[in-house]
Amino acid sequence: MVDMRKVTVNASKTYDIIIKKGAIDLVGNLTKDIIAQGKVCVISDSNVAPLYMERVKNSLSKEGIKAKEYVFPAGEKSKNAQTYIEILNFLAQGGFTRKDTLIALGGGVTGDLTGFCAATYMRGIKFIQLPTSLLAAVDSSVGGKTGIDLSCGKNLAGAFYQPSMVIFDSDVLKTLSKEYFADGMAEVIKYAMIKGEGLDKLILAEELDIEEIVERCVKIKRDIVNADEFESGIRQILNFGHTVGHAIEAQSDYTISHGRCVAMGMYIVTKAYKCENLCKQLFKMLEKFNLKTNCPYTPKEILERAKKDKKADSSGVNLIVSKEMGKCEIVKITMDELLLLIKEGMK
Ligand SMILES: NC(=O)c1ccc[n+]([C@@H]2O[C@H](COP(=O)([O-])OP(=O)(O)OC[C@H]3O[C@@H](n4cnc5c(N)ncnc54)[C@H](O)[C@@H]3O)[C@@H](O)[C@H]2O)c1
Repeated sequence: MVDMRKVTVNASKTYDIIIKKGAIDLVGNLTKDIIAQGKVCVISDSNVAPLYMERVKNSLSKEGIKAKEYVFPAGEKSKNAQTYIEILNFLAQGGFTRKDTLIALGGGVTGDLTGFCAATYMRGIKFIQLPTSLLAAVDSSVGGKTGIDLSCGKNLAGAFYQPSMVIFDSDVLKTLSKEYFADGMAEVIKYAMIKGEGLDKLILAEELDIEEIVERCVKIKRDIVNADEFESGIRQILNFGHTVGHAIEAQSDYTISHGRCVAMGMYIVTKAYKCENLCKQLFKMLEKFNLKTNCPYTPKEILERAKKDKKADSSGVNLIVSKEMGKCEIVKITMDELLLLIKEGMK
């Protein structure tokens, strides 16, 4: 197919990430070999389904594939055990078997939830990601982390489970709100900080070349996932800004969005390491998307939350530090040191 960008992931499963304007209407053609003769269920949320469900189903129908649909209320609150079980029951009642396929049509919530259903229904069935938020396109749809939230915390139940294909149509971002777009840009800025690849220039350009940005981001993530699928080493660098960011998110009781919290987290750590020039560059990128750097909580409040993070243990936490655009390192620090860093970064 012409004008189609393709990035191939070689993790425990090999699959393509397709980036193409208008791809929503080509889903049937692109996925028919994966779906083969099996059944399909398209899972989406109540915001995205009215916008794109019909087009996806029409495209499948052109290939003779009749898809079922399952729509849940939009929002992080739906990424829970109840929705998960409801979907599994829906599949079982519909006679879905191991040969069948789920399609996640939506943002990170839909992708994580659908992926976890696919990982566990009958011990694993195929799934395809159609990311519709920028965050899902550059981050959550790639790499195979799937899961749901528990009442004790976010993403506490999950599985590493790779999709069979990811298809991103940049036109869908036209209906995404500015706020959610900015959330996705926080993750793009994270890639610029940890790996570079000229992303800083693309981010600051007058006109955003979204397809080029998404391609560079997923190539970075692809390389990291290929090297360390199960996050025992290098994959941790994707958590740049997240140790402090997650703590701020939890302290706000999830009223401040993930992207905004990661933005604050990246800034606090970079400032703490006194990298003035990098701090200025980071600030410029964040400012462009109205991502604030001043955190509304005290260092102690943040530390208490960071201690409860699933990635922290009694000896401390692995902090990702960037001292130069496009470069980063993993630094093991104690919780006392983390407190000092947060204090310094918030001065
Ligand atoms: N699996 C991973 O590796 C990974 C990585 C990062 C984040 N996540 C997860 O991703 C989730 C956040 O993702 P998100 O920000 O995409 O959340 P989301 O799925 O809730 O989408 C954000 C909002 O935008 C709406 N939306 C999505 N696409 C739209 C479109 N094209 N037009 C109009 N509205 C649209 C959704 O309905 C929702 O209201 C969190 O649950 C987080 O834990 C997972």
